[in-house]
Amino acid sequence: MLQQLAWMITIVLVAMLGLVFLIISRKAGRRMDYQPIQEKWYRIRKIWFISLVSVMVLATVLSLSRLPYDQPTEAASSVKEVDVKGYQFYWEMSQEEFIVGEPIQFNVTSMDVTHGFGIYDENFQLLAQTQAMPGYTNKVHYTFEKPGTYQILCLEYCSVGHHQMIKKIVVKPKNGGSEHGGK
Ligand code: CUA
Repeated sequence: MLQQLAWMITIVLVAMLGLVFLIISRKAGRRMDYQPIQEKWYRIRKIWFISLVSVMVLATVLSLSRLPYDQPTEAASSVKEVDVKGYQFYWEMSQEEFIVGEPIQFNVTSMDVTHGFGIYDENFQLLAQTQAMPGYTNKVHYTFEKPGTYQILCLEYCSVGHHQMIKKIVVKPKNGGSEHGGK
């Protein structure tokens, strides 16, 4: 579907390029006064330059402010720290049940080779991820917004048992309620 769209866009762009070449080659024979053309395109170039710079500044400001590198704003004491260790071929976690709305910091490392720590929701949507590397601890901050069963999957091919590295974790509703909210 997307590939077809990409093909169509490519064909249209190639056709447009061809048209431009055709027009230029037809005009090439004619003599024209160069001065006004130069002035006109210098003006257009200046406007183009200013618009490009504005777009880039805007995009930089908007995208930088959304980088997930900031620390959680909550007081450090309210952040739940969870230790995660990757092994060939399973995950070991200091905690496997969580509560909606509690900010969590996963401290992710590996006890053998590099694994990929990925948190997926029930629709197999990736919510957060980092590398699980031997000798390092990578921190991921995440706050679950819905109760339910989530899955930890390995995102880095780590040898024959890679696909077995699945761990289910449970997120319970706030206020210590029952698990009916997850359905
Ligand atoms: Cu661990 Cu793939």
